[in-house]
Amino acid sequence: MVTNHESRTRVDEVASGVYRISTPLDVIPGGFTFNSYLIADDEPLLFHTGYRTLFPITLEAINKVMPVEKLRWVGGSHFESDEFGALNQFLEAASAATAFGSEIGVLTSINDFASRTARGFGDGEEFSIGSRRMKWLYTPHVPHGWDCGVLFDQSTSTLLCGDLFTQAGANLPPVTASEVLTASEAMRGMMDYYAHALSTTPILERLASLDPSMLACQHGSAYRGDGAALLRELSNTIERGNSGLQSNN
Ligand SMILES: [Fe+2]
Ligand SMILES: [Fe+2]
Repeated sequence: MVTNHESRTRVDEVASGVYRISTPLDVIPGGFTFNSYLIADDEPLLFHTGYRTLFPITLEAINKVMPVEKLRWVGGSHFESDEFGALNQFLEAASAATAFGSEIGVLTSINDFASRTARGFGDGEEFSIGSRRMKWLYTPHVPHGWDCGVLFDQSTSTLLCGDLFTQAGANLPPVTASEVLTASEAMRGMMDYYAHALSTTPILERLASLDPSMLACQHGSAYRGDGAALLRELSNTIERGNSGLQSNN
C-alpha cells in the first residue's frame, strides 16, 4: 500500500503483524530505502524511527495501520539518525511509549537525546509485547556501532537485523525470496560500512542459531527464506575477505 505518492512511502505486511514502512531517498545513485518496522500487538513496537525530517510521512504511514498513540515501544539497532532521528517526535505523539536500545546505546546516546528516560536491554534479554516475545541481542560493531543490537520476534521468527544485508536501490520489492547477499556485498564493497571487529564471526553464528525465516532489513527488501544459511554465508564471505587482507600484508 502506497501511503504517500510524493515521497513514494509504502507499507507492507511482511510477516504476520509485522509492517515494513519504506521510504526511498536519492542519497546515492539509484536511490536507497529507509525502512521502519511496526509490530502490531497489545504493546505495539516501532523498530527505527526514520530520519527526523521524514517524521510526518512515517507518521502518516503508521496511522494507516494503527493510531500512533498506541505505540508502547520505540527503538532501534544503533544510534544514527535513520534509526533514532525522529525519536522525540514519536515520544511526543505516543505518550505511553518507551524508547529502547542496547544498554550501551542508552548510556552513550539515547538517554541524553531522548525527552524521557529510555530502557536499555541487556544481551539475550526477552520481553513480551502481548502475544509475542521479543529477544534483544547485543551485536557490538556488527555491522557497526559499539551500541549495535538486533531484535528477534520469536513468534514469527523475524530478525529485525538493522543494517545487516543493506541493499542499494529505490525500487526493490518489499519482500524477496531471492538471496540478498550479492546485493548487500555490492553495497559493502562500495561503502565499507562494516566495522572490522574481531567478534563478527561468533556474533553472526549466534544470529544464525536463532534460525530466522525473515530478515527484516532496514535498507532494501526484507528476505524470506533460510536466514541462518544467509547469515552463515555472510560470515564466510567476511572471513574470506579478512584472510585475503592478512595474506596481502
Ligand atoms: Fe547504521
Ligand atoms: Fe541504517
